[in-house]
Amino acid sequence: MEKLLEVKDLEVSFKTYAGEIKAVRGVSFDINKGEIVAIVGESGCGKSVTAQSIMRLIPMPPGIIKKGSIIFEGRDITKLSEREMEHIRGSEMSMVFQDPMTSLNPTMKVGAQIAESLIKHQKMHSKEAWKKAIEMLKMVGIPNAEKRANQYPHEFSGGMRQRAMIAIALACNPKLLIADEPTTALDVTIQAQILDLMRDLQKKLNTAIIIITHNLGVVANLAERVLVMYAGKIIERGNLDDIFYNPRHPYTWGLLMSVPTPDLDKSKKLASIEGTPPDLFAPPVGCPFAPRCEYAMKICYEKYPEEFTVSDGHSVACWLMHPLAPKVKPPVGKGVTLS
Ligand SMILES: Nc1ncnc2c1ncn2[C@@H]1O[C@H](COP(=O)(O)OP(=O)(O)OP(=O)(O)O)[C@@H](O)[C@H]1O
Ligand SMILES: [Mg+2]
Repeated sequence: MEKLLEVKDLEVSFKTYAGEIKAVRGVSFDINKGEIVAIVGESGCGKSVTAQSIMRLIPMPPGIIKKGSIIFEGRDITKLSEREMEHIRGSEMSMVFQDPMTSLNPTMKVGAQIAESLIKHQKMHSKEAWKKAIEMLKMVGIPNAEKRANQYPHEFSGGMRQRAMIAIALACNPKLLIADEPTTALDVTIQAQILDLMRDLQKKLNTAIIIITHNLGVVANLAERVLVMYAGKIIERGNLDDIFYNPRHPYTWGLLMSVPTPDLDKSKKLASIEGTPPDLFAPPVGCPFAPRCEYAMKICYEKYPEEFTVSDGHSVACWLMHPLAPKVKPPVGKGVTLS
């Protein structure tokens, strides 16, 4: 597998009047060409900040990349000029945001927004770009594309806007697409269509996709590999089977057990993870999950766990994996099975 992106020891903070928010605290991961990787974790754990760092869209100030490198096809994104970044954004990597209305231009026809990117990055003439824009709208499944290309974003439904965003993001055939909660605002059937669409496009165009989501159903449907984040760190990583059938971090167990399933006994409450994530102004020295972890040991409060290898590609930062730690039986729930 050929590597497309290598994020190494990335640290991102926001310097605010109240102090420094340590949003991303030493994150490393690779993405191969054409691969689909999901980043999951609860609100505020640093998923979007990680994505925005790759796109170099962190507002600076207050944001600052304190440490680490982001190597995209041999170039360190953290060291490029804004001009170089402008070229890369849209042409080599692009992003789909949660709310398309905030990133589509309300005063510009949808077709023109796609064409604009083609004219800028691919130096197409306007006629050719307009033709390609219609083609892209067709590709993302917008019916009546010729007519729709002449409409403004407010004339599109939510699902269509999301498709239009994907069309814009893919117009220049980027090598990497980052989709940050791309389906959260949509109803379930449209969600499924958008996911199908992303999967098809990945197959057709060999685009690598980083999908950020709260929704483990989306992960199971789309991703090949999963990174589980907690308080600015990756606490477990593995392929789909590793994470769904042999998860090792108590936080991952909690995540999986909080997924509603149709056969859920209505008299039982859905499991939730008690407590709140740590304060990112002063993150703890030990495992950030320890205060919420029913298996926490003394060392968990004192030292951040090493990354233990479970199997090839599956690793976890948890002291329970230490050979001297007591053997813990994971709670067996839907999708959580003992290995
Ligand atoms: N522009 C900013 N200024 C100050 N703090 C910020 C800024 N952007 C993000 N943060 C902080 O960084 C931390 C990580 O935020 P991030 O947006 O990455 O969370 P997330 O995992 O994407 O959460 P969600 O699932 O809610 O989208 C949070 O504590 C957030 O408040
Ligand atoms: Mg986010």
